[in-house]
Amino acid sequence: MSDFYEPWDKLIRLVILGKVFQVPENNTLLRQFQYLSEDVGMGRYCWNGECRYCEVHFERPGDPLEYPALACRVRGFDGMRITKLAPEVRYNLSDALAAAPLEAEEASEPPAGPSPPSGE
Ligand code: FES
Repeated sequence: MSDFYEPWDKLIRLVILGKVFQVPENNTLLRQFQYLSEDVGMGRYCWNGECRYCEVHFERPGDPLEYPALACRVRGFDGMRITKLAPEVRYNLSDALAAAPLEAEEASEPPAGPSPPSGE
């Protein structure tokens, strides 16, 4: 993986505007967005908390509150739900958002991966 990611071993699950994604753990949310769309690397982001073009709102599992954050300042965590995206981020992620499965669709599909043993 490219040098600009912090070291990571596994992918974690994010839900962004109701769509499901897998992104590298241990990275800022903006870097995780870049993993989903290379366009983020060409956006007008300062990457240091000044421009606010990366602003998002998010929810934690089991917590009904919604929190504002700067995606360049917080690390995405497993189960994080992004409920709002600043226009710049939404624009950069538009193709990824269009292609990703809805959370409701994911729940109705059988889990991906090998079939369980048949019990011979
Ligand atoms: S990228 Fe500028 S504030 Fe986050």
